[in-house]
Amino acid sequence: MSDPLILAVETSCDDTSAALLRGDRHLLGHVIATQDMHAGFGGVVPEVASRAQLRVIDAVVEQALAQAAVPIGQVDAFAVTAGPGLIGSLLVGLNWVKAAAYALDRPFIGIHHMEAHLFGTALEDERAQPPFVALLVSGGHTLLLFVDAWGRYRLLGQTRDDAAGEAFDKVAKLLGLGYPGGPAIERLAHAGDPTRHPFSVPMVRPGQQEEHDDYYDMSFSGLKTAVLMRVRELKAGGGLADEVPHLSAAFQHAALEQLSEKTLRAVRSSGCRRVVLGGGVACNRTLAERLRRRLPPDGELFVPSPRLATDNAAMVARAACFRLARGERSGLDLNAQADLPMPGIID
Ligand code: KG4
Ligand code: ZN
Repeated sequence: MSDPLILAVETSCDDTSAALLRGDRHLLGHVIATQDMHAGFGGVVPEVASRAQLRVIDAVVEQALAQAAVPIGQVDAFAVTAGPGLIGSLLVGLNWVKAAAYALDRPFIGIHHMEAHLFGTALEDERAQPPFVALLVSGGHTLLLFVDAWGRYRLLGQTRDDAAGEAFDKVAKLLGLGYPGGPAIERLAHAGDPTRHPFSVPMVRPGQQEEHDDYYDMSFSGLKTAVLMRVRELKAGGGLADEVPHLSAAFQHAALEQLSEKTLRAVRSSGCRRVVLGGGVACNRTLAERLRRRLPPDGELFVPSPRLATDNAAMVARAACFRLARGERSGLDLNAQADLPMPGIID
């Protein structure tokens, strides 16, 4: 199959997205339907998310096909996020794709959500090719990888508790900023002074060596608790409102400092000066600026545009293009898995 036309669907969390990709570069159609009914809850309500996805999935795929101006009969292969994610949401996309692949007698492949995030940047910039250091930072995962080649991933470190995006969301909830929290915290942090309520940078201490198991690992829950304590003190003193920008700035500083330091350690020890970001937290411009400033002069940082950093089906199609070209296929017995292990992890 040279330059196959792939139809991909992504429904791992609260978004519903469909994409049509020709080969590995030509995005012919791409629709992302986001849900705003979770804002008041400070997080995604799984049952609400999956029911809404069931209502819109047909329309989202139809719109993507209309954008691409291709009939569904021309699709060569289907792809879908099979995990990790919210099980009810994953099932909506997986069942849709299985039914379409079966009815049209086409192959389909289930894709790991974080592997898809790894491919997001390559859709926009063909120089974002391995080898590179990858920092994947989403609402559910925080992974630091060395990508030898597509499909060969060395896991250097990961979060030991909350994911980076989850920490932004939980801190935003503490500060009364709604969901998703990342964009709100980043916006407010610009107006805040990070030194007014400083928080220490987690998992970074002098004398850490590569052989220490906390050298690349990350943690966000202690930082979140530190914010909670400060919020309680300020509330008791009656003075939280004016401090929210300063707390946002201090939290963001500590969180991003941890992410940057761990990434730069991977750059130093691998000798590889190319860094690729992926996942919703990659939308954070302060993170990109900080990394760019601290990379060696010949370093290269690849940051996906916000549409390809947050959940989307285009990245799923791009990852599927790679896996289909290797002859991989999924069977109709494929199940959605809330906790699917990342493929291609090597020691
Ligand atoms: O990758 P993604 O769209 O969904 C998951 O796979 O989880 O990531 C969503 C996460 C949310 O936690 C959201 O708060 C975070 O990405 N996020 C940000 C920013 N924009 C989105 N975090 C920090 N700064 C941002 N500008
Ligand atoms: Zn994601």
